[in-house]
Amino acid sequence: MPSARNKIITGNWKMHKTIAEAKDFVRQLIPLLTPDSYTTWLAVPFTIIHSLSQDVQSTHLIIGAQNMNDASEGAFTGEIAGKMLKDAGAQFVLLGHSERRRLYHEDDAFINRKIKRAIEVGLRPVLCIGETTQEREEGQTEEVVKRQLQQCLEGIEPQFLTSLVIAYEPVWAIGTGKNASPEEVQMVHQFCRNILKEQMSAEQADQIPIQYGGSVNASNAYQFLSQPDINGLLVGGASLSLESFIKIVNDKRD
Ligand code: PGA
Repeated sequence: MPSARNKIITGNWKMHKTIAEAKDFVRQLIPLLTPDSYTTWLAVPFTIIHSLSQDVQSTHLIIGAQNMNDASEGAFTGEIAGKMLKDAGAQFVLLGHSERRRLYHEDDAFINRKIKRAIEVGLRPVLCIGETTQEREEGQTEEVVKRQLQQCLEGIEPQFLTSLVIAYEPVWAIGTGKNASPEEVQMVHQFCRNILKEQMSAEQADQIPIQYGGSVNASNAYQFLSQPDINGLLVGGASLSLESFIKIVNDKRD
């Protein structure tokens, strides 16, 4: 199991913040982080990656992106390549976020190609998975996350998956104020880890961080982080305000 100390809290800023707003946020955040803070990552808009990654040099903050294309380069107007993100200073990239799947019709095969490309260029892939309301109501949660994990990781040798992070985000919990209970999330995470164990050794699967995301805030974050298989959080709305985000990354009670 990844150790408690290394639990990763990722702020997903989605399509929010200008360069000036982002720099101001990080300038205030850095002095509030302590050696006891959780590992803190920020998934920021493309325009912000370069200047923020310079601002966080010699701090423990890690900057990443929210999406990328699967091709290495080419005639794909409006798209961005993994190597461009890496060049701008990104260290990780969210892939397969439910907003990408739902609004831009990304499927598991496309996400699989993106993961392969991210690994090739040296970006840590954060694979987002999770069931919709309907799938949950029909009792398909396990089937859906199993299919997403298997198809998104298909054909990738275990030795290339050491940098992988999984984010389980039930779609019905994102931005809605509704969460799954920490116990329910723990069960899904344990199930996901068992699926990973079919693809790699148990030791390796135990090292892959599995984050939870979906209406996490300063009041509920700790309950999730207390579960053994919840190795971090992907935080949307509550990462936009410094006040709530700092409470989450500094909320270590053990
Ligand atoms: P939320 O978003 O915390 O606002 O629910 C999470 C996400 O979409 O990653």
